[in-house]
Amino acid sequence: MKLVSEVDLPKLLTGERHRIHLIGVAGSGMSGIAALLLELGHNVSGSDKVSTLETDRLQRLGLRFFPQHRAEDASDADLIVFSSAIKIDNPILVSARDSSKPVVRRAEALAAVMRGKRGVVIAGMHGKTTTSAMTAHVLREGGLHPSHYVGAEIPILGTNAHWDPRGEYFVAEGDESDGTLRCFHSEHCLILNIEEEHLDFYVDLDAIEKAFAQLIEQTSETVFYNVDDANTARLCAKRKGAISFGFFEKADYRGADVELRDFASVFCVYRRGQQLGEAILNVPGQHNVQNAVGVIALATELGIPFEKIAASLRKFEHARRRFEIKYQSDRFLLVDDYAHHPTEIRATLKAAKSTGRKRVLTMFQPHRYSRTKALRKEFGRAFDDADRVVVTDVYPANEAPIPGTSGKTIADEIATHGHRGVSYQPRLEWVHRDVGNMLDVGDLVLSLGAGNIHEQLSVLAADLVIAERLIAIVGEEADVRLYEPLSKHTTLRVGGPAQFLVEPRNENAFAELIRSCRRESLPLFVIGRGSNLLVRDGGIRGVVVHPCGGDFDRIEVNGNEIIAGVGAKLKEVAYAGKAAGLGGLEWMEGIPGAVGGGLRMNAGAMGAQTFENIVRVRYLDANGEAHTKTRDELEVHYRNFPLLENNFAVSAVFRGQPAPTEEIVRKLEASQEKRRTSQPAAKSAGCIFKNPNSCPAGKLVDELGLKNSRVGKARVSEVHGNFIVNDGGATAADMLELIERIKSVARAKRGIELETEVQVVGEMA
Ligand code: EPU
Repeated sequence: MKLVSEVDLPKLLTGERHRIHLIGVAGSGMSGIAALLLELGHNVSGSDKVSTLETDRLQRLGLRFFPQHRAEDASDADLIVFSSAIKIDNPILVSARDSSKPVVRRAEALAAVMRGKRGVVIAGMHGKTTTSAMTAHVLREGGLHPSHYVGAEIPILGTNAHWDPRGEYFVAEGDESDGTLRCFHSEHCLILNIEEEHLDFYVDLDAIEKAFAQLIEQTSETVFYNVDDANTARLCAKRKGAISFGFFEKADYRGADVELRDFASVFCVYRRGQQLGEAILNVPGQHNVQNAVGVIALATELGIPFEKIAASLRKFEHARRRFEIKYQSDRFLLVDDYAHHPTEIRATLKAAKSTGRKRVLTMFQPHRYSRTKALRKEFGRAFDDADRVVVTDVYPANEAPIPGTSGKTIADEIATHGHRGVSYQPRLEWVHRDVGNMLDVGDLVLSLGAGNIHEQLSVLAADLVIAERLIAIVGEEADVRLYEPLSKHTTLRVGGPAQFLVEPRNENAFAELIRSCRRESLPLFVIGRGSNLLVRDGGIRGVVVHPCGGDFDRIEVNGNEIIAGVGAKLKEVAYAGKAAGLGGLEWMEGIPGAVGGGLRMNAGAMGAQTFENIVRVRYLDANGEAHTKTRDELEVHYRNFPLLENNFAVSAVFRGQPAPTEEIVRKLEASQEKRRTSQPAAKSAGCIFKNPNSCPAGKLVDELGLKNSRVGKARVSEVHGNFIVNDGGATAADMLELIERIKSVARAKRGIELETEVQVVGEMA
């Protein structure tokens, strides 16, 4: 390998044309270098195991992209640039070393490119990307045609890196994370803050300060520094000609009278006591105001008039993933932020709180095991401004796990610190569900972290668009909930979430809902009281409709007929009968379900079944059209009413027989007694199996000696063999495994094929 010092890197990169290969070109920093090198006229190739929108864009500009790291693809390169995420045994690196090819790190290449211009480096632990973008934007608006390099996508700048041959300046975000700050020899630098971070690389704060001291030392002109940050001030104040900025009264450039207005901040700027004017920044947070004062200091010293600076600040927009609004409506606000250090989290939460929303709900993905371990206490104290926090597991970056350190470490620290709204969700793909289910009108949801947590916010945002449409369809009086756990809506108390749970209150709303789901190809599933339902642990995708309340709960008696909405309980129909002196309905007292469920499965007890009492059924078809059919027009079987496989009941008319009250009461009591003595009181879905012809299923299970057999917390009741009870915390998987076990024993020992009566729906977890 040729030593970098043996080649004149700045000349090679900015004065000549070469073949250059970048290892890890899809990384946010590396793609910026690729863009600069292409603009400088080099023949650029790059390899990465992933491709991104950015690599696609670069390919259109001439990058030759290789989806894997193979030595032969870089064999003709004159120079290799590699990302700090690349391991030393990378085949291209190994081969370059063997053939004595010059190999440089990303920051070395960047620093060398900058030598071709008057460099401005923005450095610090937090806020670099936003501040570099702001600086490049203000200099550009000020007519200086700066080149720039920023470590994230910056919509307002167009790209994350750009070489502009017209201008003299080059603004770069200086990354301290891997020690490469020492590469920069710029004309100016702007230092935002210095504290303990990247302890995977630095031993301690002292080591970090040394890296910054070297940067300052190598800066040829002015050091601009944040005087409010103690470490920065201590390090920079003694530097000759250094210019301070911040809120401190004696700062050379001072921000004051900050007023936070929703997403904007209005503040006054003073230079050495003299007022320059008022500025408006359209990104929230006090910390951004502080950094903007630094940008104002630098731009003013470079000769841009204050009015121009203020005008461009007003137009400034955030970088991607920096308080980026992902979704906004009258009801909800979803914001994504890259914050992954306790200081950044505190600042971002403060900004979120200052927007005045009802509550701030946060999803947080810790970044790197080393940081999680080193700063666990600080993380524990960083979430005071969040009403609810869901912490998921650590995004490892390129680190191996540290035993005993996980997302739970942080969740526990936050709880120990006294926060009452924290929970741990180890499955990243379920985080949006936990947060979405907490969501209330007026809330702000914030995703925090440098990994891929923002994808969870995007999923939530996409579902919120649909949820808001559903609200518009069913009306404000209806209930629309996201990711509602169906364990709350089934008597068995198991089951994953419904993507959307909708409770319409009348037939029109229900019909509109059916039509809209059909139009948008959204699956639709109807539940009642969930007394005969086993929902798998992965829940139900699409819209789960629970018609209840309003018209659906109504019961009216008209002569010998009782008209009941599908949401009314069967038990209530029996008691309405009793009040009106109508008998024959007493058996319904023992059924935990509602009219809808009773119809759907032709439920029965005490030797009777639903359709023996039915006169008419009103239902909506797949197009939302209403129909009424009389009993003789309907096909009905034991525990099955096929019409409702593709149609949706809205109400039914039952017929009772006038009977003396004492007789009705006696029958009701007999049903109660039967239930009390032969059925368990524990959580169950009623009978699990249909009764086979040869023998009642409960008797069969009993005879097979399977009572009290269990899987996890699912157990065959000792009271009745056809009941499986949830002893607390059972999963659908437990239930299903136990059902299969019973079926296979019945098959093996008695040759009986048991069929479930309970409806099994949903997806596996
Ligand atoms: N039996 C046993 N051991 C048991 C359970 C039952 O030997 O562990 C015997 C009973 O002694 C009885 C026979 O099996 O001789 C039938 O039992 P039961 O009278 O309890 O009736 P079932 O057929 O098991 C049906 C309904 C129940 C309803 C009752 C009461 C079905 C599948 N089940 O149960 O409905 O409550 O009658 O009338 O038709 C439901 O549908 O969810 C449900 C619970």
